[in-house]
Formats: sequence, C-alpha cells, structure tokens
Amino acid sequence: MTELIFATHNLHKLQEIQSLLPNGIKLVSLDEYGIMQEIPETGATLEENALIKCKFVYDKTGQPCFADDTGLEVEALDGRPGVYSARYASLKKNDGENIEKLLYELQEKPDRKARFRTVIQLVWDDTYIQFEGIVNGKIAMEPTGYSGFGYDPVFIPEGHERTFAEMELEEKNTMSHRARAFEKLVQWLSENI
Ligand code: IMP
Repeated sequence: MTELIFATHNLHKLQEIQSLLPNGIKLVSLDEYGIMQEIPETGATLEENALIKCKFVYDKTGQPCFADDTGLEVEALDGRPGVYSARYASLKKNDGENIEKLLYELQEKPDRKARFRTVIQLVWDDTYIQFEGIVNGKIAMEPTGYSGFGYDPVFIPEGHERTFAEMELEEKNTMSHRARAFEKLVQWLSENI
C-alpha cells in the first residue's frame, strides 16, 4: 500500500477524494505526519501556491504528495479575487464579507461572467505534474441558498439557474472545478502507478 499525502488540514476534502482513489493508494493527512501548521500561501498564482504547499510537504517527508489551490476568477474584475479569494475582504477569511465586497464591486458592471479554477500539484518520485479543473458561470445579483461554503451562494454554473449553494453536494460534484481537477489526478494515478 503506497501512502499519498494530501497537503491539507481539511478532513472533509480528504474524505471526498479517498473514495475515488485507485486500490493500493492510501491517502494520509498532514496531521498523520506531524505537520500541524498552516503552510504559508505566498504565491502570486494558484499554480505557485499549489507548488509551494506540495514542495513544503515533499521536502519534509520525501513521500508522494499533492496540494490544491482554488480561486474565483471574475471577468469584469480582471480575474480577481483569484488567488486572493479566501482573504478578499480582509485577512479574517470571512465568506459573508467576501461576497458583500464582490457584489459591491460588480454593482455597475453588466458583465457578470466568472469561473472557479482549481489547480492540483502532484509530486511522485520526483515527477512534478499539475492538473486543472474549471467550471464557468456567472455571479448572481444577490446570495441564494445555504449549502456549500465560500462564494457558493452567488455562483451560478453555466447551463443552470440555481447557485451552487442551492444544490446538494452530489450535484455540485458532477460539475465543480475541484471535482474536475481531482478526476484528472485520479486518472493519472490509475494510469501511472
Ligand atoms: P481553497 O484553495 O480550496 O482553500 O479555496 C480558497 C477560497 O476560494 C475559499 O476560501 C473560498 O472562498 C473559495 N472557494 C474555493 N472553492 C470553492 C467552492 O467550491 N465554492 C465556493 N467558494 C470556493
């Protein structure tokens, strides 16, 4: 059984992907390797942040590992909040305040196109490889729905009329940025390991 470290402290994310992995790979958390701190996300892009987190863990453990980073990219805001999505309104990482700021900035803008983008960085036996998952959509005029987290109450995926926060997790997972990026990771592992 090969151990693969997911560079996250988020147990929910960990469980979500364990069930998708091919046989013979056991997913382990940072906590199990005694890495308890938040890894600093100092990169200017999602790609840089995923690489920073993944390298941090690989340098410490020498074990195969991967890290993910996600951002909401809004067309009329030149791709913001992007890599700063979690701390858009303030350093407190407050979802409600982030949404408020986003809606305020889009007030006068007719173009509400946006996308979520997830980047996953994997390192396996010194091979570094990235996977990307994207879901296109638009920003609603006001928040609706209670499921999910982050910007879910204001993100309406293309081809739908409800926000992510009005969907069950199972439905969101059939189209989400994260699910699409993880699918590519799982595919690579199935073919190469
Ligand atoms: P992370 O890289 O997964 O920690 O995501 C960074 C930030 O992007 C989060 O704090 C949320 O604000 C936002 N975000 C990421 N994924 C989602 C999602 O699936 N729905 C809504 N917001 C998200």
